[in-house]
Amino acid sequence: MITTVRGTRDILPAETPSWRVLEETAREVFAAYGYQELRTPVFEQTALFARAVGATSDIVEKEMYTFADRGGDSLSLRPEGTAAVVRAFIENNLHRSLPWAVYYMGPMFRYERPQKGRYRQFHQMGCELFGAEGPLADAEMMAMVLRLLRRLGVDASLTLEINSLGCMACRGPYRTQLFAFLQEHVAALCEHCRQRLQRNPLRILDCKGEGCRAVARQAPFMKDHLCGACADHFQGLTTLLTALNLPFVVNPLMVRGLDYYNRTAFEVTTTALGAQNAVAAGGRYDGLVAEMGGQATPAIGFAMGMERLALLLDAAQVKLPRPDIYLVVVGDAASRQGLVLAEQWREAGIPVVVDPLGGSMKSQMRRADRLQARFVLILGDREMTEQGLLLKNMANGEQVFLKWETAVAQLSALAA
Ligand code: HAM
Repeated sequence: MITTVRGTRDILPAETPSWRVLEETAREVFAAYGYQELRTPVFEQTALFARAVGATSDIVEKEMYTFADRGGDSLSLRPEGTAAVVRAFIENNLHRSLPWAVYYMGPMFRYERPQKGRYRQFHQMGCELFGAEGPLADAEMMAMVLRLLRRLGVDASLTLEINSLGCMACRGPYRTQLFAFLQEHVAALCEHCRQRLQRNPLRILDCKGEGCRAVARQAPFMKDHLCGACADHFQGLTTLLTALNLPFVVNPLMVRGLDYYNRTAFEVTTTALGAQNAVAAGGRYDGLVAEMGGQATPAIGFAMGMERLALLLDAAQVKLPRPDIYLVVVGDAASRQGLVLAEQWREAGIPVVVDPLGGSMKSQMRRADRLQARFVLILGDREMTEQGLLLKNMANGEQVFLKWETAVAQLSALAA
């Protein structure tokens, strides 16, 4: 038997109503803050991610689905959304229409070790805002994320964590200092961190290994080595979050796994999902547009993992779809007549589910019950002779007889 690929999964009809709640609530909240939807391709040139996400990041080094297409071009399935949004911003000359605020949702692909809440094909919904430089934008974006999580009813076990990653001016000297510190403690680091000490020392700060964590706690922190402008920005952000009554924790060890960030980085974590504890994450990337060949434009964004949100979603919000009208047809002649009538009703805008398996009245009624249909219409031998239908209200058991010619008007009233 051929099965799904490891790390991918079907979202079965029992789950899709939750996903629709996520998507529809997000669309409403994002639109309320002025974001419009952008849809970009699922695959891009590999070079886009290497440059934007960072050639030495774990995502690009180890996790991308990269392949040569039949023309020999190196393409990759998108591991995240921001790179393509920046590409679209530059390619469509959108610096002329700032601010540009967009959201996206869809599948992303990373060759990670699958576990609960971590998949190889997963889904993100995210927002990117171009043009706004000050901490107001950062604070408003965090308020939006938290509002969405509250609307979804998943805010019980969440923490907003923030940090500053500095800028080109202050990160260089800090990195040198951090590197020197880590070199002194290299013996305590895990194998992986020893390897990346030269290339990406910052990532060692958020390694989950016990030895590395002990070293990281003693390390110099970026937030204590910010230049004046970055320190002001961070201070401005914390003041605004306080004014908005949004509780937050400064986590000096949060460095993020994508290289494009500067200044503000943030994550919303939960205690309800085990190891995969980030439900939303993002930050500023003021240098990325210029680095990718566009006009220097400050930007900030985030993405949230939809599988993780679906696991947390308040079940009370999810209304399962149930048919208004379910047509039970007994016998061959009735089945043919049922098909014709149902199409006439649908033409008139009345949704109706026709039992697709036939068989005894009892088994069809059982299926109608399982779907929690509100009304059942019965078309059997007697109804065929009388050119009518029996309508049963499933809530109270009441039955009435309808004629075929007048059924449309009566059924419209029910489905309304
Ligand atoms: P990220 O932290 O790599 O950031 O991913 C954002 C969120 O996507 C995570 O917090 C998590 O909820 C979800 N996620 C990531 N990987 C997986 C996975 N393998 N399985 C399930 N869920 C996952 C970014 O992707 C940035 N593009 C966010 C951003 C937008 N920064 C600025 N703008």
